[in-house]
This record gives sequence, structure tokens and C-alpha cells, in this order.
Amino acid sequence: MGALLKLTIIGVLLAALGERLVQFSHRINLFREIAPVDLPNCQLLKGIEYGAEDIEILPNGLAFISSGLKYPGIVHFAPENPGEIFLLDLNDEKLRPSSLRISKGFDLSTFNPHGISTYIDEKDDSVYLFVVNHPHYKSTVEIFRFAEEENVLVHLKTIRHSALHSVNDVVAVGPESFYATNDYYFTDFIMRIVEMFIGLRWTNVVYYSPGDVRQVATGFYSANGIAMSSDKKFIYVADVTGHTVNIFEKHEDWSLSPVKVVQLDCLLDNLFVDPATGDVWTGAHPNGFKLLIYNTEDVPGSEIIRIQNIHSDHPTVTTVYANNGSVIQASTVAAVYDNKLLMGTIFHRALYCEL
Ligand SMILES: *[C@@H]1O[C@H](CO)[C@@H](O)[C@H](O)[C@H]1NC(C)=O
Repeated sequence: MGALLKLTIIGVLLAALGERLVQFSHRINLFREIAPVDLPNCQLLKGIEYGAEDIEILPNGLAFISSGLKYPGIVHFAPENPGEIFLLDLNDEKLRPSSLRISKGFDLSTFNPHGISTYIDEKDDSVYLFVVNHPHYKSTVEIFRFAEEENVLVHLKTIRHSALHSVNDVVAVGPESFYATNDYYFTDFIMRIVEMFIGLRWTNVVYYSPGDVRQVATGFYSANGIAMSSDKKFIYVADVTGHTVNIFEKHEDWSLSPVKVVQLDCLLDNLFVDPATGDVWTGAHPNGFKLLIYNTEDVPGSEIIRIQNIHSDHPTVTTVYANNGSVIQASTVAAVYDNKLLMGTIFHRALYCEL
């Protein structure tokens, strides 16, 4: 091979690597710092010390909070503690979350809850809680019935399926059916980083019901939070490293067709739709590097974003709260009820503020 050709090839490879590096640093917001945005009446929730990765609120103001996620490559302050689901009554001014009892027979020692979703059966008002679980770092979806009088989660079913390889979040659409965001190759941390570095789009949305399991959307860098619009016609999917909210129309046969993409500049994690306004809320990571390389001197911060009129040509995107980690680290979710805002994190605390 001629020297010039070799040099050219090396040059091209270096340029490609450089381009990947630039893309990668952009996707994880390597250098991004945020300005603080405060809210007046805030308090940390007592008893939640090891994360509040996802939050769902029932129409009556009862909030479910998934806590204790252990995730490859992400710090955890009490790795020996199994995960928990907390219940918080937002109508009670005391704001005391309590850890929900789970019915016998469910393996609590490997409980590793991640994304959650609620479903209310119109036939009998039964409340179901769907929980993405990672026992031994695998992926299952657990379905519980919430028995409110006894304050207990009754375990109904564990769903495992080859199409649900590495699940992040779910949105329930029936007593036994849901859409899930999923990575179809990797669960391993290093491979995830490689996947992110190369910029592969190997994550998808899977529709699951007992007789019908299929991929309904794909092409996301890293599909994360998933939620349904308040009119139940659309599905919203957060692409955390793509920095986008992807809107899909939901059809009668449960297929999804793309409607539009809303570009943000943060690493948005879970999505919550305000049933009263249709606004989409998300907890985001200001800087992905600080999340991956945890440093007690320079902790990851939190950023809470509200998107109003998401279906219009000009959605309004507002940073409602932002903190450098001095109050809460690594926000993943924001949920609202009646001018009350609940914010959760991967491995840190949960914050309540009045809007
Ligand atoms: C974070 O913000 C707090 C309060 O706004 C400030 O006192 C502190 O110095 C900041 N920390 C860093 C590491 O910037």
C-alpha cells in the first residue's frame, strides 16, 4: 500500500473517531452546566434515601414511587438493600411516604424496581401497578393489584419474554398489556457505553399482551421513559441520549405511527403527563458524564422540564426547577397533582415542591 494511501486511511479513521467523540460528548452533554432554578416551598421526602426512579399518581392523589434501583454503572448508596415501592398521599399535608407491603410469594430479596405505570380497570375500579424489575440484572415486568384498604400490593404475574430483553419503562394500556421501552441487545454497562459511543439505535418500543408481542417502534438511541397522552390517543417516548420526545399515534391494533419529534437539549429520563392539562413533565440529567463517573466533589444535578402544548407547532419548554446536586442529584422524573410537584432521582432522594 502506498504511503499516501495509508496516511489517507489513518486520516479518515481519525476523523471518524473524532466525529464519534464529538457526537458522543454531545449525546451525554459532557460539558453542560446549568443555572439554578428554585421553587419557594420545597421539602425532601422523609425515608426516601436510595432513589425514586419513577413516580405515578392516581386520580385520587395517591402516588407510587419506585425506589432502590440498582443499575449497571450507576452509583448506589445501599447496594445490599432490596428495592421498594413507596406510597404517598398527596392530600395529606404530613407528606409521609410509607413502604408498601408486597403479598407473600414474591421474591423481595431480588426486587430491583425501575419504571412503573398504573392502570385502572373501568369495570371494577381495580388499580394495577406495573413495575419493570431487574432481578439479577435481568428484565421482567411485574403486575400487582393495589389493595387500598389493606395497603398492600398483591402480586399477580411476572412477565418474561425474549422481546423484553432489557426494559426501562412501561405504560400500561390494559390489565395485562403494555408498551415497554427496551434495548434489544445489551444489558451490560460497558456495551451500553460502546453502543452509545458508536451511536447505534438499537432500542425500541415493544407492545405486549398475552397473545400478541411485537416491536411497534424503533430507531431510538436510547428509548427511556414512556407515557400516554391524557386523551389516550398518543404515546410519548423519551430518547435520553437523542434528547427528544417522540410522539406516536396509537391505533386500534396497538401499532404506533410517528407523528413528530420534539427536540430538547437535556438527557430526559421518565415522562409524566398531567391529566388535567396534558402537559408533559420530565426529570432530566443536566450532564451525563457526572452521572456515569460519580464524584462526591462534583455530583450530578437535576433538571425538571415541563412541555406545554406538545402537539402544537411551537411547544413551550420550561425549566421549572434546576439544581446542581446540592439538594437533589440525578433527577429522573417529575409528577404533578393539584399544583404539587414531586421529583424523583435514580439513587438519591425525592423532593416535593409547591408550584
Ligand atoms: C451548588 O449550588 C449551591 C447553591 O446554589 C452553591 O452553594 C454551591 O456552591 C454549588 N456547588 C457547586 C459544586 O457548584
